[in-house]
Amino acid sequence: MLEEIKKIENSFLQEIERVKTLEELEALRIKYLGRKSFISQAFSQIPNLEREQRAELGKVLNATKEKIVFLLDEKRKTLSMQEEKIDLTIPPFPVERGIKHVLTQVSGEICGIFEKLGFIIIEGKEIEDEWHNFEALNIPLEHPSRDVFDTFYLDLPPISKDKGKLLLRSHTSPSQIRVMKKMRPPLAVVSPGRVYRPDKVDASHSFMFHQIEGFCVDRNINFSHLKGVLFYFAKSFFSSQVKLRFRPHYFPFTEPSAEVDLSCILCEGRGCSVCSYKGWVEILGCGMIHPEVLKACKISPKEYQGFAFGMGIERIAMLKYRINDIRLFFENDLRFLEQFYEV
Ligand code: PHE
Repeated sequence: MLEEIKKIENSFLQEIERVKTLEELEALRIKYLGRKSFISQAFSQIPNLEREQRAELGKVLNATKEKIVFLLDEKRKTLSMQEEKIDLTIPPFPVERGIKHVLTQVSGEICGIFEKLGFIIIEGKEIEDEWHNFEALNIPLEHPSRDVFDTFYLDLPPISKDKGKLLLRSHTSPSQIRVMKKMRPPLAVVSPGRVYRPDKVDASHSFMFHQIEGFCVDRNINFSHLKGVLFYFAKSFFSSQVKLRFRPHYFPFTEPSAEVDLSCILCEGRGCSVCSYKGWVEILGCGMIHPEVLKACKISPKEYQGFAFGMGIERIAMLKYRINDIRLFFENDLRFLEQFYEV
């Protein structure tokens, strides 16, 4: 009997080698483990045997059966892996590709234009202190222009006493100070980022918006450098046809100062609702950096001069894409945002 079992096992080992399909494998299982198989028959004989023989036969039969079950299982795994068919006609899962927010795109495009002129990008801080946001920019405590740059103050202890209270910066101009305190001229820097003002939200105002500050400090810098850089920007960003208009203005941190209007790109200066029928749209503030600002950063105004400008990114994006409500940028409605696929 024991010899027979050995023979059965050997022939099973040979046959399983030749099995190529799951169907053949099932036939083999029935042949070796099915009700009529030698092994099942042998099991049913056990009760008729002598005590000692029973134990021995039982052991050998169990071991052989276990081995066969194990090998059948392994073979089933390899065969089902091979037989798994790849159906090339099944449509793939759609992969949604994200895009940059339209303001990030516009900001990147603007910075890219200045980078071509040799400007580098340095980001400032959104949480500022009174010294960087005001004093160093020549806006003293009781100065009425502090009202213009109306500010969110933070209910936090100041980091250093002589720098005043902490606040959310109301413009990107403190980036000028951050850079000029650390780096020496020649400097040509653009600094994009968020700014905050407690304005009532409407179609053209938001309590949070974005600006790009730009400035350049070197020997013999004058107003025509500023004009040249801004013309280059306007022509590259909008079109070679656009015109700029410099209107005298007042900023405490620049002298002389100007506000710059762009000839309305929608009506080409003829007058429309976007430019309030004036033909011009204000896009930025600028001027020659005030000597007091250079002094606050320990740069000698006798040796060095600089120009600076600050523009609102939303305003420029609204002009470029003819968007009529600033709130659309921040409501996160995908039907709006998905329209700005990068090319
Ligand atoms: N910081 C000014 C503003 O927010 C803009 C500005 C920047 C003006 C640099 C002149 C020079 O309105």
